[in-house]
Amino acid sequence: MPKVFQKFSIERIQIIAKEIYLLRFSSAAIAAEARPGQFVMVRPAKFAEPLLPRPFSIHRLQGNRVELLFKVIGQGTRQLAGLKKGDLLEVRGPLGRGYDFSADQNPILVAGGMGVAPLLFLAETWKRSQKKNRKGTLRLFIGARNRDELLGLKEFERTGAEIFAATEDGSYGRKGLVTRLLTSTIKTPSPDQTLYVCGPNPMLKAVRDWAVQKGISCQLSLETRMACGLGACLGCVVARKKETGIAYVNVCQQGPVFEAREVLWDE
Ligand SMILES: Cc1cc2nc3c(=O)[nH]c(=O)nc-3n(C[C@H](O)[C@H](O)[C@H](O)COP(=O)(O)OP(=O)(O)OC[C@H]3O[C@@H](n4cnc5c(N)ncnc54)[C@H](O)[C@@H]3O)c2cc1C
Ligand code: FES
Repeated sequence: MPKVFQKFSIERIQIIAKEIYLLRFSSAAIAAEARPGQFVMVRPAKFAEPLLPRPFSIHRLQGNRVELLFKVIGQGTRQLAGLKKGDLLEVRGPLGRGYDFSADQNPILVAGGMGVAPLLFLAETWKRSQKKNRKGTLRLFIGARNRDELLGLKEFERTGAEIFAATEDGSYGRKGLVTRLLTSTIKTPSPDQTLYVCGPNPMLKAVRDWAVQKGISCQLSLETRMACGLGACLGCVVARKKETGIAYVNVCQQGPVFEAREVLWDE
């Protein structure tokens, strides 16, 4: 059964950095089903335009409370940013295939800019999985243009993550790109480490190339334009490398998370 839009009242909407907002609503159904790396399609209920909803990763779940973290880019996100507590949202989800992880792995999260959005949900879920089983190590490599855009540090600290931060302007952590910080810190990855990555395409590509060269397992969350989120419009199709050749897949259904070695850009 394709998922339908449901209406939810905004419980909180808060600006947390320039053009970046945290939005909260409650849904027992989404909270019960959602897995880290999945997303929801969202549109404000009160506007006729744009008709199309926009995709956002599930940033955090606390009980039935669902949090989204978004940056204002164009018309859709500007409308969302203008909503107030009590306004209605239309939400479809959770959708897509999220990160594949287990309690036995020691995750290395790599977040670039807004790529932090799905990774807090992953860090908190993984941390909960450790209580009964084992005490593994969670590492976060996080990069942004400047300190203000380095999001969620306190929340990641609470998961016990070992945090490595980089800013392009040097206002916090190591100056430069987070990919350089990653590759200079992890010289020899171990087999129980897996990379979980989300961020802009040049960052994904750099991490993918390094992971393939080092032979470390790596999952990338891809962003494409999406209109339906359901596999119906074919607006999100990308090429994927398979053993049998190249296959074309919908990012909204078979992704947004893919094994790094399967992802092709312009090569
Ligand atoms: C699976 C998935 C999860 C996402 N999760 C988040 C999230 O948690 N937080 C967040 O802030 N954003 C997230 N995004 C991106 C977000 O969906 C877009 O920023 C949003 O749709 C822009 O809508 P808009 O109407 O504001 O801008 P538009 O008016 O639609 O676009 C403005 C400009 O940005 C470009 N653009 C818009 N979206 C994309 C895109 N996805 N890729 C490349 N170029 C684009 C357009 O070509 C256009 O030039 C996610 C995207 C995907 C596919
Ligand atoms: S967004 Fe329509 S097919 Fe993926």
